[in-house]
Amino acid sequence: MLTSNQGISISDNQNSLKAGNRGPTLLEDFILREKITHFDHERIPERVVHARGSGAHGVFILKKSLAKYTKAKFLSEVEKETPVFVRFSTVAKSKGSTDLARDVRGFAIKFYTEEGNYDLVGNNMPVFFIQDAMKFPDLVHAVKPEPDNEIPQAASAHDTFWDFISLMPESMHMIMWLMSDRAIPRSFSRMEGFGVHSFKFINEEGKVHFVKFHFKPKLGVHSVAWDEAQRISGVDPDFHKRDLWESIEMKNFPEWDFGVQLIPEEDEDKFDFDLLDPTKIVPEEEVPVEIVGTLILNKNPDNFFAETEQVAFHPGHLVPGIDFSNDPLLQGRLFSYTDTQLSRLGSPNFHEIPINKSLNTVHNNQRDGHMRHQIVKGKISYEPNSIGGGCPFQATMSEGGFTSSPERVSGVKIRERNKSFVDHYSQAKLFYNSQSVPEKNHLQNALIFELSKVTIPEIRERMVGQLNYINKKLAEKVAEKIGVEVKDVEFPNQSLPAESNPI
Ligand code: HEM
Repeated sequence: MLTSNQGISISDNQNSLKAGNRGPTLLEDFILREKITHFDHERIPERVVHARGSGAHGVFILKKSLAKYTKAKFLSEVEKETPVFVRFSTVAKSKGSTDLARDVRGFAIKFYTEEGNYDLVGNNMPVFFIQDAMKFPDLVHAVKPEPDNEIPQAASAHDTFWDFISLMPESMHMIMWLMSDRAIPRSFSRMEGFGVHSFKFINEEGKVHFVKFHFKPKLGVHSVAWDEAQRISGVDPDFHKRDLWESIEMKNFPEWDFGVQLIPEEDEDKFDFDLLDPTKIVPEEEVPVEIVGTLILNKNPDNFFAETEQVAFHPGHLVPGIDFSNDPLLQGRLFSYTDTQLSRLGSPNFHEIPINKSLNTVHNNQRDGHMRHQIVKGKISYEPNSIGGGCPFQATMSEGGFTSSPERVSGVKIRERNKSFVDHYSQAKLFYNSQSVPEKNHLQNALIFELSKVTIPEIRERMVGQLNYINKKLAEKVAEKIGVEVKDVEFPNQSLPAESNPI
């Protein structure tokens, strides 16, 4: 039976309470007021980035133990199954936009482990635009619709984005990925996932390895061509969302191999790039990806809002055995996610929403706040205390619990980019050269299409100047098609110490 939010049964859901058949509606109609008030508050702010998403439940199955490298239990016991919730997303556009935008795709996974929730908040590309969190708001402001008129909605097809990018040599590797077919996947189940940053594994003995996370789709990596993407966007903007939903309903469960690249802590400096630089990959020729598990998505959400929309990921949700590195982009992310979720979800108790709840009981001395669900009994909510009464205490050494990997940290307090972060072009070249001839053509055509939308000639010129550092022929071809010349350009990149600016 239909009820109000207080559980009383409703006998008429068609008519409001009026003074006479044709008279005004009465203020006392609490049933109408409750219904409309709730409706008025149905919307919450969309995510500031990654607003458009699709989610699914699934399971992670460990096939090979990583106990030698990490004490995380869900990565130690072979055949252990860990429930997961995964949310895929586009980054730049709003919630109601098309799935087929040329854009990065989010690939965020919540592992509900026996030791608490572990979130791997990754993307479908292994690198990022910027090296330091300080630049994230600038990047996002440049890529989002222009603030005066919200035109254009299209990601990366306007003056502001290319203006910013043309002034940021560090973004060139990511730009190669973004202009490639990787940015228009055929489906979520046919794209890779990457943790992007170097993280750390810590084993029982305290030994540390750097680790890069990979998900490789069992169906292989497939993309659509740009003209297909545009047509699909017009006909079925929910193409990816629908594909994910229908393949799960038809029991064609999307699957990925989960792999790791492992680097002993003492080998940190053995590469010609910095492991802490999120604009660099660790080439698989140098450190192979070891496949150790399977990710399977096998259940659609029951309710989009309650699950896909209210899920709150955070790169700082860790379990014992996994830790951050000092990657300056990752370090900034650690602040950002809870902060934004406080305003997006509206309460410090959003960890109590079912999709965000850990499997094991949350037991601490935090209390109260908007929308508190947990009813904690007893009068003690501080520690240490001598009264007891069910108050939780921290784990003893032998009981385990989370410990950060000890690391010697010293240095001058300084606001500067390290010189080891300065090579912006080698891996951009590496990526471009790894493409087949048709893929190179697609990439070139994407650049021509995108830059032809830029209305300011100086920005076009600066971009062509950047491309010239990656591949001369590519720069010349793009320049010819967008009507500029290839010239040497200077980049006033304030983020680098002057003497180390490569230009
Ligand atoms: C979502 C900030 C870099 C992957 C978000 C959100 C914020 C944010 C504020 C919205 C979260 C929410 O409302 O729940 C940042 C900042 C970054 C950064 C400040 C750099 C300093 C990255 C990078 C990656 C990434 C490098 C990939 C490795 C994601 C994903 C989501 C997301 C996948 C969507 C999560 C979901 O589906 O709910 N980010 N981000 N972000 N970010 Fe980042």
